[in-house]
Amino acid sequence: MTKKSIFILLFLVGIAGIGFYIYYNSSNANEQVVAKVEKPSRAAHLYQTKCAICHSGASLEAPKLESLQLLSPATVIKTLRTGVMRNQASTLSKEEQELVANYISEVNDIDEDPALIKGLCNVQEEDVAQNVSIGNWGYDLSNTRYNNRSDVSINAQNVSQLQLDWAFAFPGVSRARVQPTIAGNTIYTASQHGTVYALDKATGCIRWTFQADAEIRSAITIGTNENGKATRLYFGDFNAKVYALDLKTQSLIWTQQIDEHAVATITGSLNLYKNRLYIPVSSTEIFNAHDPNYECCTFRGSVVALSATTGKMIWKRYTISEAPSPQGLNSANRPIYAPSGAPVWTSPTIDTKRDVLYIGTGENYTRPTSVTSDAIIAMALEDGAIQWVRQTVPKDAWNGACMTPGSPNCPEDAGPDYDFGASPILIERDNASDLILAGQKSGMVYALDPDKDGAIVWQKRVGRGGIMGGVHWGMATDGTTLFVPVNDHSVYPEDAHKPAFPGVHAVDLNNGQFLWSAIEKDRCGDVQWQCSPGISAAISLTPGLVFAGALDGVLKAYAAQDGKELWVYDTNQEFEATNGIKAFGGTIDSDGPVIDAHQVFINSGYAKFGEKAGNVLLAFTLE
Ligand code: HEC
Repeated sequence: MTKKSIFILLFLVGIAGIGFYIYYNSSNANEQVVAKVEKPSRAAHLYQTKCAICHSGASLEAPKLESLQLLSPATVIKTLRTGVMRNQASTLSKEEQELVANYISEVNDIDEDPALIKGLCNVQEEDVAQNVSIGNWGYDLSNTRYNNRSDVSINAQNVSQLQLDWAFAFPGVSRARVQPTIAGNTIYTASQHGTVYALDKATGCIRWTFQADAEIRSAITIGTNENGKATRLYFGDFNAKVYALDLKTQSLIWTQQIDEHAVATITGSLNLYKNRLYIPVSSTEIFNAHDPNYECCTFRGSVVALSATTGKMIWKRYTISEAPSPQGLNSANRPIYAPSGAPVWTSPTIDTKRDVLYIGTGENYTRPTSVTSDAIIAMALEDGAIQWVRQTVPKDAWNGACMTPGSPNCPEDAGPDYDFGASPILIERDNASDLILAGQKSGMVYALDPDKDGAIVWQKRVGRGGIMGGVHWGMATDGTTLFVPVNDHSVYPEDAHKPAFPGVHAVDLNNGQFLWSAIEKDRCGDVQWQCSPGISAAISLTPGLVFAGALDGVLKAYAAQDGKELWVYDTNQEFEATNGIKAFGGTIDSDGPVIDAHQVFINSGYAKFGEKAGNVLLAFTLE
């Protein structure tokens, strides 16, 4: 080797050394970058180990990660600390809860949201002493969901001219499910964030807001003075607290906690009669049951009567008279409690002639079961005394653990979870006996005789049934024909071979026979969410027209006469919102259309059961 070549070799070794030095340092730098993002990866790990099993997994009830991403970090933290996930998040430290919330959320916090301020009305109109047009969820005390007031101008001849007028976006939410109520020129609704909104009916601008402690799901019931003018608002929150607001001062009059169970909740809407509020009490304990160590289950459904004046409790009647007691151990050696469940998430139907109310109940959570689950129950308005019980599916014990095969808290020989979720409807007839109409998740509709302890007058299968119905949230009637929405989407494997009847069905009240059926065809195409033309949400009626919204976001008006499709609008799209934030529709579920004078209102977006999230309230107007 020459001196020259040794020199070159050393030179090359030197270059390589420098190269290695650069490489070494840069890989160190890479390590430092990795170290910097260590926090999110810890958050990702938390998410993967504590949340993903449900939110990125097979749980049908849990909203998908994409839906959680729409919530602000503050909303997620609130859910983990005091909301529906407090049990799942109880093993996380406060810091870990914040970490995972920031990891999940893809939006900024919405406190003092400028969008909210942007949407305010210019002129503050008076809210008080207005005439009430839609004062509760069911349109009347009988829950008919039928608006036949003379000021309704939308009919079968002109409905094709119905046009989108305005869209309002609820900030920081993944669903919109509080069905609007209306007095004068104001709409009352509320959000997943626990904000009550008073919106201008004509423009959607915000008159005022009120912040409750937790999510609101029930409609805002409007209270009136002796002249029938709106003076108060009543509603329940996710933590089983009832609120009364004064419309004049827009402030709180009273609140009342109506159940002491840690996971009791108010989903169904309140009804108001003779200065008493009747409130259905449900729970989210079926989700706790998923945890093998959870002592399942200790909640019982109930109805509570409060004084509308003071909020004082007048009575509370459990759907199961005996308190749950220990019934042996589950396979994880934790005690089982029973009887439990029979929650109430229908809006109580008031029978002013017989001084009773009617509710539907859900399944039992554990065995042994009670005779009051999956039943229609009549209670005295005076003291809640149970007058009669009509159970249509006995021994139905089910909870969220049954979503995972072998999970210790799933009751042996689990039932089908065939709740009555749709409020019973009371019909008074001159030439025939009065009827109570009840639709069940099983896909059955029943007509019961209120004078014969709820004896079955006729029954009719309208769908194959399933976890979200069959019939899920609410039917409508004009007193001669019953209009029944059928979902038939999320069915049990053993029912999958049976024919599905998604759509709207008209049934003769005299005998339960079909008058017509408008069966909907799949319009979903290739999408990644639980899309279906099935109708889970409650439907609404005005003379000549049925309005119904489907899981795929399509809202339709059908001719009440023959089921002909007269108007269609796809709410699963983006909108320009009056309050300047990104507005988008999705699935229509739970609450239904509101028909008032020349307008129709609908919420769109429902991030549950793998459905499509959304945040919008839409107003359609006849031009
Ligand atoms: C055992 C299943 C399960 C686990 C584990 C779980 N969740 Fe949930 N989560 C649910 C279900 C079911 C709901 C819907 C409850 C309801 O709305 O009634 C829900 C709701 C939520 C919501 C509210 C969403 C909304 O739309 O209101 C948030 C936020 C949430 N979960 C976050 C988390 C986080 C963060 C974790 C992990 C620390 C977690 N969850 C673990 C099942 C689960």
